[in-house]
Amino acid sequence: MSNIIVLGAQWGDEGKGKVVDLLAERFDVVARYQGGHNAGHTVFIGDRKFVLKLIPSGVLRDGVMVVIGNGVVIDLAALIEEIDSLKALGIDVAGKLCISNRAHVIFPFHRLVEKMSEARENRIPIGTTQRGIGPCYEDKMGRRGIRIADLFDPEAFRALYDVLAEDKRILAETFQIHEPIDYALIRHQTEEYAARIRPYVCDTAKMLNDAIAQGKRILFEGAQATMLDIDHGTYPFVTSSSAAAGGASTGTGVPPTRIGGVIGVSKAYITRVGAGPFPSESDGAAGELLRREGKEFGAVTGRPRRCGWFDVPLLGYTAMVNGFDTLIITKLDVLDQLDEIPVCVRYRLRGSDICEMPATYRTLEEVEPVYEKLPGWRSTTRGIDRFEDLPERARAYLRFLEERTGVEVGAVSTGPERNETMIRKGSRLEQLLSE
Ligand code: IMP
Repeated sequence: MSNIIVLGAQWGDEGKGKVVDLLAERFDVVARYQGGHNAGHTVFIGDRKFVLKLIPSGVLRDGVMVVIGNGVVIDLAALIEEIDSLKALGIDVAGKLCISNRAHVIFPFHRLVEKMSEARENRIPIGTTQRGIGPCYEDKMGRRGIRIADLFDPEAFRALYDVLAEDKRILAETFQIHEPIDYALIRHQTEEYAARIRPYVCDTAKMLNDAIAQGKRILFEGAQATMLDIDHGTYPFVTSSSAAAGGASTGTGVPPTRIGGVIGVSKAYITRVGAGPFPSESDGAAGELLRREGKEFGAVTGRPRRCGWFDVPLLGYTAMVNGFDTLIITKLDVLDQLDEIPVCVRYRLRGSDICEMPATYRTLEEVEPVYEKLPGWRSTTRGIDRFEDLPERARAYLRFLEERTGVEVGAVSTGPERNETMIRKGSRLEQLLSE
């Protein structure tokens, strides 16, 4: 029985939430391994829209346990709000949700630190989600962070908290940030929040490994995406965690030897939120059309997403660092009305083709995308539920992506609903899901 990772192959917002929600019924547990409430998974069920930020989207399925792994950073107020709003929609997480006792806690002053660093003169502004994610991971790596388990040892928590708060106070003073922060109130609120989440907290690494030993199946859900990975993404325009497949092990405590497959999720085109290089960006009328047809506005921040064409070198790179077994291509329907569809097939740099992803954002900003244009199919793909029934030109488009990236297209989605994703018969994806 395979435990599988599902993650984004581009810069995020590929539709992973929907994919995980769809696949979750075949798994016993869905586990998040990194990121925080910067993620936004939009899932539609009938006419109901859910935006999940921290809790894995498997929570919408009966009989599925969901885990927030040790690699995630948790804003307790955001988590409690999400638990409460799910409850208001009739979804009770009691008995379904497990939160790692080793996950780190985001405090309101992490947002202050983020504001400070984003606004500093001569610093490259990343265009973050302003949720305090990066500064919380900084404290984690700096070995001064506070973890969920610390919250349940009142004396130790107070001591750790007071040191951390004093650090931030000195920082704010040094940089002349005069935002009033009531550190004592934050500490008190944190203690109240801790009491509320206590029933969900456990050693999730043990829970997951025990589940595997009992023959249960785990689906690992990545947040953000490969090109936002702290190591493999377009540094420094990245998030502060290991979003690529390797993060699934470190972020949950499940060893690589227990993970059997990696599914990449990619749009039929590409988008990016926030700043940073984007070789196949289309900022003209075509980009506007993709944004309009694809409703490309951030699920968390509402920011318009930058849009562009499918990028083969980028996909080849993310396939390499993640070892994709198969790809799920989402939002094919957004291309339905186009006469022709450009695909970036290679990069040119100072007159030569390059076959590696440049290490610096400066070089990636310099590359020129080389396009091939494929004919559009100019008919609706909404409502089609078998791969074979897609228009011939749509299938040719998908075949082209497969041939150029070297990864099979195992499924395609043509609309936001659960039942608008078709899994291709005989594909590696189908095999992985049934192993
Ligand atoms: P941070 O994760 O808030 O630190 O933001 C770092 C970068 O990651 C920014 O460019 C954000 O726009 C981007 N980012 C963070 N979360 C997401 C997401 O869920 N989807 C797409 N982009 C994201």
